[in-house]
Amino acid sequence: MNTDVIVLAAGKGTRMYSDLPKVLHPLGGKPMLSHVLDAALAIDADTIHLVTGYQSDQVRSYFDQHPVATPLNWVEQTEQLGTGHAVMQAAPMVDDSKTVLVLYGDVPLISPASLRQLREKAQTTGIAVLTLITEDPTGLGRIIRDDHDRIVAIVEEKDATPEQKQITEINTGIMAFNAGRLKTWLSSLNTANAQGEYYLTDTVAIACRSGCTVGSLQTFDENEVQGVNNRLQLADLERSYQLQQARQLALQGVTVADPARLDVRGPLTVGRDVSLDVNVILEGRNRLGDRVSIGPNVVLIDCDIGDDCVILANSHLQGAALSSACTIGPFARLRPGTELGSHAKIGNFVETKKAVIGAGSKVNHLSYIGDASVAENVNIGAGTITCNYDGVNKHKTTIEAGVFVGSNTALVAPVSIGRNATIGAGSVITADIPENDLAVARGKQRNISGWKRPVKK
Ligand code: UD1
Ligand code: CA
Repeated sequence: MNTDVIVLAAGKGTRMYSDLPKVLHPLGGKPMLSHVLDAALAIDADTIHLVTGYQSDQVRSYFDQHPVATPLNWVEQTEQLGTGHAVMQAAPMVDDSKTVLVLYGDVPLISPASLRQLREKAQTTGIAVLTLITEDPTGLGRIIRDDHDRIVAIVEEKDATPEQKQITEINTGIMAFNAGRLKTWLSSLNTANAQGEYYLTDTVAIACRSGCTVGSLQTFDENEVQGVNNRLQLADLERSYQLQQARQLALQGVTVADPARLDVRGPLTVGRDVSLDVNVILEGRNRLGDRVSIGPNVVLIDCDIGDDCVILANSHLQGAALSSACTIGPFARLRPGTELGSHAKIGNFVETKKAVIGAGSKVNHLSYIGDASVAENVNIGAGTITCNYDGVNKHKTTIEAGVFVGSNTALVAPVSIGRNATIGAGSVITADIPENDLAVARGKQRNISGWKRPVKK
């Protein structure tokens, strides 16, 4: 679309009090800056010029590991001499004929729709500003309009007269330009202002003086232009973002018990008639099939949940793939590599890891099943442990179809249990069991009749 984007992200973020660069702080599970880059991608930017300074190596290494689809041009601003100065570092790399949008790395929720409209305005006028009318304009640049309501300047708070400070229309910071003209206007910026900085906002008055009309677009969505300077603003914006997602899910047909108590921190695919109870956290990439029901306080990380599965309260699942109609929990922990066949059941206080468990099999209570392959219709009694670790290496347990494992059994891996075998409760199984056999491996019971209890002296 003949558009380039310049993202300003050189600021220190002092008020975050963090070793992590501000723009890498996550919102909805991904860095603020990633949201901005996604918006640039959504409007088909040809190149994103990323102006970084403070801790730029950390920002760079993040995006080396998490590449984006739009080409990135890394621009170093070693000294932060103002927004105008930041744009000056990138402008020479932009073709004169292009429209260039200036975004901030710490304004994460900017919408592609606003950017498209702003771009359209700049394409006719050469310059356009995204503004907002707000109750509290403190600290922000004020929009100065003439008697015909045309924008003639932006005045920073620190340079504003008491009358100008009364203005409630503010500069969101997001602007669009014809690149060729922007370069001309940038060359006449100076630092004769209260902060001794090169203000990008001064291009507005300069453009006006050169006979340009300044385009403007007013947004009514405070969140999309909300900048993050400290962790309280980040937390507030996170809640707004989550509420917005939860409402969207509800409008798409998901039963959301309380839109204020749902956190989705990554891409989510949902089927029909899915239900999410309170305090559910969906992290990473998750898929929920039709009629899936998720109970309260459940955490899902990178899971694939088949149709009709029920996940009961307080369960924690990571990297698990469930076929249809499985029941999990309450209080279950499914770790990466857990794969369940249809109608499998994992009950309370059960932990699974790298465990493939067949259709109709049940692990109902208090067990650990790790590095295991369990076939169909197996019943694993309460307190069964796969002893998969000898202190040095991990070993595998194989359980064939129809096996019945009695309660409190230790399966010392490597070990294989044949089809339809039965294990007596309390056994320590150290050798393979052939199919259909009963294995009992425990101390024999002895009853002593006439036993007298000791008496107190
Ligand atoms: C700027 C605008 C102001 C607007 C406000 C909205 C100017 C002069 N002022 O204020 O009108 O209301 O944003 O939040 O443009 N940055 C750099 N390099 C620099 C300076 C800043 O990369 O040398 C980046 C910062 O990291 C930040 C963004 O630019 O992401 C804005 O900088 P900030 O100092 O927060 O903006 P203000 O100058 O306060
Ligand atoms: Ca700011």
